Parts: sequence; structure tokens; C-alpha cells
Amino acid sequence: MKKLLIANWKMQLSHEEACTWLEKELPSVHETLSFTEHELVICPSFTELPYATSLFEHLVWGAQDCGAEEKGAYTGDVSVLSLKDLEVRYTLIGHSERRRYHGETNELVRKKATLLLKHHIHPVLCIGEAADQIPIRRSILQEQLESVLPAFTSDDLCIIAYEPVWSIGSGKVPSQEDLRIILELIRELLGDHKHLILYGGSVQEAQAKLFSPFVDGFLLGTSSLKSEELKKIILSC
Ligand code: 13P
Repeated sequence: MKKLLIANWKMQLSHEEACTWLEKELPSVHETLSFTEHELVICPSFTELPYATSLFEHLVWGAQDCGAEEKGAYTGDVSVLSLKDLEVRYTLIGHSERRRYHGETNELVRKKATLLLKHHIHPVLCIGEAADQIPIRRSILQEQLESVLPAFTSDDLCIIAYEPVWSIGSGKVPSQEDLRIILELIRELLGDHKHLILYGGSVQEAQAKLFSPFVDGFLLGTSSLKSEELKKIILSC
């Protein structure tokens, strides 16, 4: 089973910096991949997608978000129709940074999932509890999942990225045993849905080695921009 490695570049690079990364770093990262063992999906900013998808059309690209409507007067939003035109294959939805800084609700996330599925783009649903929600983790994950799952039919693949908010960018990660228990809970909540579960939050080589046997892949932030670190993670999966 291939490991799905999704690189979320967030808003870390300018257009020029991102293009330079793609030209200079991507070829050696690409060489590290085994096409039977890994699927690497890079999610740059929207502004880089036309460049990236046209120049590296043999690679798989993702978006960090999408609008909740197909078209219309929604200033600043980017339509799934544009993502589809660019042959974007995956799109993150419900990232904790969208929930926190843009007030995204589970309801909005469900609308995005429905639209993406309609246009055959894989939604990658990000879920996870904040530090003060650890004691009520079960109910948080349950609410995040149950409010979005109705968008998925039994034929759709649910890609879930479990990203504890307290782990993102902090260097803190769950223990292997805690993660195993949380993944069991997520699987239980997913019921009969076909699914892949990724882990995200401060993943470096050591965590990739430790968690790889339990997960279907990783959602990478900081380390996805450090090509040497990214290669080590790829080789650890
Ligand atoms: P870090 O890997 O920087 O903790 O970010 C994780 C993340 O938010 C990926 O979506």
C-alpha cells in the first residue's frame, strides 16, 4: 500500500521562492520517491498552481483550500472549477489554521467536501483537537467527522488527516500508543466508509519512522520545505 505524503506549504514562500524551490529542490526529492511506495502531493499557494501543474504535469498537485461555491460573487475565493481545470487531485479542507483564522465551521467544510467530490477531487479532511480539548478529544473528533461525513457516499474515499492543533509547528507529538488509540477511535467513527488516515503535526524523520506502520501517510508542514528532511521522511515510509 502506497504511503500518501502531502506537503502543505501554507503561506511560507513568495511566488519566486516557491518557483525556485520547485526548480532546484524538487528534482532530487522526486528521485527519492518510489512510485510503488509513495504518492507525494505538493500543495503550494494558489498562485503557484498554474506554474507547477504546467511545468511538472507528471506530478500530483494539491490545493490548500477551495471556495464553498462553484461560482459567484465570493471575493478572494478560488473555485473548485479552477482547481479541476488545473488537474489538481487533492484539496485540504478544514485545516485548523482555516478554522482558527478564518472562522471555518464544520458546515462550511462539508459544503467544500461535497463540491470537491462532485468534481472528482479528493478532499483531505483535517481534524484534530486543541490542547485544552484533549480531555474531550473524542467528542471534538466525533463532531468534526460526523458533520462532514454525510458529504461522502459509500463509494467515495474519505481521506482524513489527524492533526492535533497542539502539535502543529510546536515540536510536540503524541506518543505512539496515544496515536494508536486515537486512530482506532477515528476508524470506529468512520464506520464502513472507505478511508485513508494521515497523521500531521511536527513530523520529522523520527516520527515518520515511528508512526509509519500505523498510518496511511503524513500531512507535512515545516519539513516539507526542507528538501533534505523531506527526503529522509520519504525514505522512512
Ligand atoms: P508542521 O509540520 O509544521 O507542524 O505543520 C503541520 C501542518 O499543519 C500540516 O498541515
